[in-house]
Amino acid sequence: MTERPTSIRLVTPDDAEALATHLARDREAFATSSPTRTDDYFTTRGQQERLEGYLAEHAEGRMWPGVVLAGEEIAGLVTVGGIRRGPFLAGSVGYWIGTTHQGRGHAQRALGLLLEVMADELGLHRAEAMTSAANVASQRVLESQGFHNYGTTTSSFLIGGVWRDSIMWERVLQTERGAPGLR
Ligand SMILES: CC(C)(COP(=O)(O)OP(=O)(O)OC[C@H]1O[C@@H](n2cnc3c(N)ncnc32)[C@H](O)[C@@H]1OP(=O)(O)O)[C@@H](O)C(=O)NCCC(=O)NCCS
Repeated sequence: MTERPTSIRLVTPDDAEALATHLARDREAFATSSPTRTDDYFTTRGQQERLEGYLAEHAEGRMWPGVVLAGEEIAGLVTVGGIRRGPFLAGSVGYWIGTTHQGRGHAQRALGLLLEVMADELGLHRAEAMTSAANVASQRVLESQGFHNYGTTTSSFLIGGVWRDSIMWERVLQTERGAPGLR
């Protein structure tokens, strides 16, 4: 079977329904890798509010939120958050792919595309990520895109009411001095 091509684009509030459908269906499957959410998070209205918040942060240069497309279909979400400029030019990546579209390379390709956005559009120098030790699929996705782990944190992320340790990951995007965007 030929896999549908992966692409990413900036979110719009109209993406809320498709994202809520994935998140409601996968609520249990994502519970071991995501923070505990209120019921509202899994509704179209809740996602719409979330996307509007993301877009407000994007307008302030603090975030880049994108949907992952498999062909024409919304398959998941990628984000660059916590963007720090000045002498850092860094941001943290996040991603999820709906269970209906997993295991076909979409996360790896979407992360690769997100790194291009970070380097070319956002002028960033360094990408960071965090995974739980148990999330082997996510670690594999990061390794496939050139991230390496540089340590662990203790009791740093609350999942399902339990504080978990995290593995920290990084990848340098542009190595030349005075990368674009430095101000
Ligand atoms: C992690 C996640 C994004 C992966 O999405 P995906 O589209 O299925 O990922 P891909 O198909 O691009 O790649 C997954 C890789 O992990 C491997 N993998 C999957 N499950 C695995 C497991 N249990 N053990 C070892 N490797 C595993 C796959 O074989 C593949 O590697 P390969 O291409 O070398 O064979 C998806 O499972 C997800 O959204 N999970 C819930 C949210 C989440 O964990 N987000 C990340 C938070 S840090």
